[in-house]
Amino acid sequence: MLRTHHCGELRRDHAGQTVTLSGWVHSYREQGRELVFVDLRDRYGKTQVVFNSDDDSRIDALARRLRREDVIRVIGEVRLRGEGMTNPRLATGEVEVRVQQLVLLSRSKTPPFEIEGGELPNEELRLKHRFLDLRRPELQRNILLRHQLTQAVREYFNDRSFLEIETPMLGRSTPEGARDYLVPSRVHPGSFYALPQSPQIYKQILMVAGFDRYYQIARCFRDEDLRADRQPEFTQIDVEMSFVERDDILSTIDGLVSFVMKKVRNIDVPTPLERYTYRDVMERYGSDKPDLRFGMEIVDITDLAAVSEFGVFKAVSGSGGRVRGLNVKGGAEKYSRRILDVDLKNFVGDYGAKGLAYMKVAGGKLESTIAKFFTDEQQQTIISRMQGQDGDLLLFVADSWKVTCAALAALRNRIGREQNLYDPTSFNCIWVVDFPLVTWNAEEGRFDAEHHPFCQPNPEDAEFLKTDPGKVRADSYDLVVNGYEAASGSVRIHDSEIQQMVFDLLNIRSEEAERRFGFLLEALRFGAPPHAGIALGLDRWVMLLTGNDNIREVIAFPKTQKAADMLTGAPSPVDDRQLRDLHIEVSEPPKG
Ligand code: AMO
Ligand code: AMP
Repeated sequence: MLRTHHCGELRRDHAGQTVTLSGWVHSYREQGRELVFVDLRDRYGKTQVVFNSDDDSRIDALARRLRREDVIRVIGEVRLRGEGMTNPRLATGEVEVRVQQLVLLSRSKTPPFEIEGGELPNEELRLKHRFLDLRRPELQRNILLRHQLTQAVREYFNDRSFLEIETPMLGRSTPEGARDYLVPSRVHPGSFYALPQSPQIYKQILMVAGFDRYYQIARCFRDEDLRADRQPEFTQIDVEMSFVERDDILSTIDGLVSFVMKKVRNIDVPTPLERYTYRDVMERYGSDKPDLRFGMEIVDITDLAAVSEFGVFKAVSGSGGRVRGLNVKGGAEKYSRRILDVDLKNFVGDYGAKGLAYMKVAGGKLESTIAKFFTDEQQQTIISRMQGQDGDLLLFVADSWKVTCAALAALRNRIGREQNLYDPTSFNCIWVVDFPLVTWNAEEGRFDAEHHPFCQPNPEDAEFLKTDPGKVRADSYDLVVNGYEAASGSVRIHDSEIQQMVFDLLNIRSEEAERRFGFLLEALRFGAPPHAGIALGLDRWVMLLTGNDNIREVIAFPKTQKAADMLTGAPSPVDDRQLRDLHIEVSEPPKG
């Protein structure tokens, strides 16, 4: 070993011992002609090492040529630092190593940014020099927590008879709603593998095969528009169980969440986690992933709007739309007219709302340019329904149900954040259940699966499958944490006839279903146990647990918004020869 201890290890008790340390030159300081101080760093911490020219002038000369991020090995004696010289910010701050031997193991070019302190450079530069970026303590902490989380997950499932089973990367397309990444086959000209968007079909087949309880830390690939919480390549904690019902999955994952939170962050999460129906959260928060760290529920006043004299409200409520609003407690003085009329109005406009009406509560009445359109009695009903008090600001959107949901949900999140309505370090985990089975795709004139085509329709809604599919609830569930979708799953169809019926409903024709999923339908015909499962977004969990809102901060080698790897330069053009082998002709030569 090139070291006897690591750089975070030495304490008072080590004084007098001769030790060998190896690490990076974190900082460098000369004091007078005799002394050179170096903070030596590795992933465990930092230790101050001292070079004294009185001890050995050759070492001193070498030490004076050290630069930040050089890699060195030192042998020396651990000494207590003198009174008043200890550094309470370092775990090793009571001691230092007086160097007797120095070996330069590796030189470093001048790093383009500082490893600690200093201004953070732009993300592109960081990603390009990810090996330096990853030396930063924040990223080291994130990667460490990610490791701890993964190990805790394995421990939890291993203790409960789950088997960790790998499924192929080179396989057939799975329908999770994004575009596939394709891999051309050399052996089968013109044919392609699809990288898995999830192990969905394989894990269901593992249930048919009798494996009963499966999990996998699985890499998934989706070619979709990227956002701060999405990567083209991400990791799921994938789970499937046989002979279970919905509640078995929910309680298994309740247990996982509380186990992991305790283990990784020492946070007690009371279980069972609260459950809400999709309908309920959409009505109360306008979103299927509401942030319940704060209240501020949406209130419906469509009935009052209908009998008011305000044209816009009347028209919307008369034509099947909805008028809904939020009460910003104490907000009357906080939002100026200009912000309300321009800023917030444009903000809700991005979600399709055509306007934002507002009223202030003052002297027990409503104050607004539109207040005159409401009788005193109507005003009182609005105030009491919205639990208004003097100083409150009431905001309203009149539109279709969908638009009021989207606009008010976004507005609620924005105001919650702006007005510090919650503790940003707190956690709120809830279940949202009973999603619709399908949603109408107006563009394509057909129904799409809300989750994926293998969700069990709720048996209570079976009658609507043929008559009013939009009404059918799926036996599905999402785990929502602080406003993020942190996991998603469902009870699966285990009957090939019901599966065929759902394919029909989704307008996936028999031949197409047979071609794309024939192997699954066939498996379901050979004795499929009732089964259900879920997948947790591992990267998102690490993001939430480390208090980040950028998923790239918790992935060692992430991709940019444009799905590029800045470090290696992927994706990149390939040799003509490789293309020929794969029987591929490129119609648009790569740029640059
Ligand atoms: P779903 O598509 O909802 O379900 O994915 C499960 C969870 O994975 C996370 N996730 C992502 N994280 C980062 N980047 C992405 N691009 C990304 N896409 C999804 C989310 C999400 O909740 N086969 C089903 C699961 C099942 O039914 O068992 C599935 O993949 O946290
Ligand atoms: P107007 O009568 O169009 O001048 O609008 C009066 C107020 O109502 C303005 O504050 C508008 O932003 C608001 N408003 C207009 N349309 C809507 C709508 N669909 N929902 C909510 N408020 C609206």
